[in-house]
Amino acid sequence: MSDAERKRRAPNSGGAGPERPGPQAQEREDMTEVTDVLVRCRDLGRSYGSGRAATIALHHATCDIRSGERIALMGPSGSGKSTLLHLMAGLEEPTSGAVTWPALGQRADLRPGPVALILQGPSLLPPLDVTENVALPLILGGLDADEASERAQRALARLELSELATKLPEELSGGQAQRVAIARALAQQPRLLLADEPTGQLDHATAAHVIEVLLDAAHESGAALVVSTHDPEVAQRLDERWRVADGHLTVTRSSTTTQEEPCSA
Ligand SMILES: Nc1ncnc2c1ncn2[C@@H]1O[C@H](COP(=O)(O)OP(=O)(O)O)[C@@H](O)[C@H]1O
Ligand SMILES: [Mg+2]
Repeated sequence: MSDAERKRRAPNSGGAGPERPGPQAQEREDMTEVTDVLVRCRDLGRSYGSGRAATIALHHATCDIRSGERIALMGPSGSGKSTLLHLMAGLEEPTSGAVTWPALGQRADLRPGPVALILQGPSLLPPLDVTENVALPLILGGLDADEASERAQRALARLELSELATKLPEELSGGQAQRVAIARALAQQPRLLLADEPTGQLDHATAAHVIEVLLDAAHESGAALVVSTHDPEVAQRLDERWRVADGHLTVTRSSTTTQEEPCSA
């Protein structure tokens, strides 16, 4: 099914019209559709605090992400990008609406597992060296220690970090630590790779290399890749550019470039 067709059929895109299939056909169609939906957000909202002090970080976000999609999430600081990625990763619970992972299972099955999230801030464990940091989620996911270490070393080599393999996080620059976190995510061979400003601390050339590595890895495994970024050059490397502004997500499908799909209420 083409993206344009998917969009026409998406539950948020039309409402009941005369062309809609009957209940049984609709059910069959929904079953076919969910098999490749990695994450489905419906009217997803997240607020922090309560009463007058409440911050609404995300309002009514609705979208589906499928295998092989490569999406840039763009928006100014504080617009809700990290909040959306954390919800998609199952790291946080929504305060309204729903997030599900139709092709991947329950929240508890996601990490370590088919979903990897590269956090925006520092995320390496201080007592573990670089290889151990990269290998840990693999071991937690059931791989034996030797195999996990080998896979960790391959991921580090891919990001040109082999010489840092035995360093502790405190011995790394911010940019090096960020790339180790990327290697850790790639080593998990996730089906959904969520990267929160992964090039934020990198110089231009390194940022370009990291984006190429992320794209290649996603291409090889057929994973979906979602990258939040401020950088238009980074965003241009991905297939679709979705906007987040004041907690409102707008999905723009590249196959329907003349038409924006507002994804917030
Ligand atoms: N844990 C938190 N507690 C309170 N407010 C938060 C928290 N996390 C995010 N926010 C607020 O939610 C809004 C969106 O934040 P965030 O998703 O981090 O935006 P972005 O990633 O686009 O910079 C901001 O106003 C931010 O201050
Ligand atoms: Mg952020």
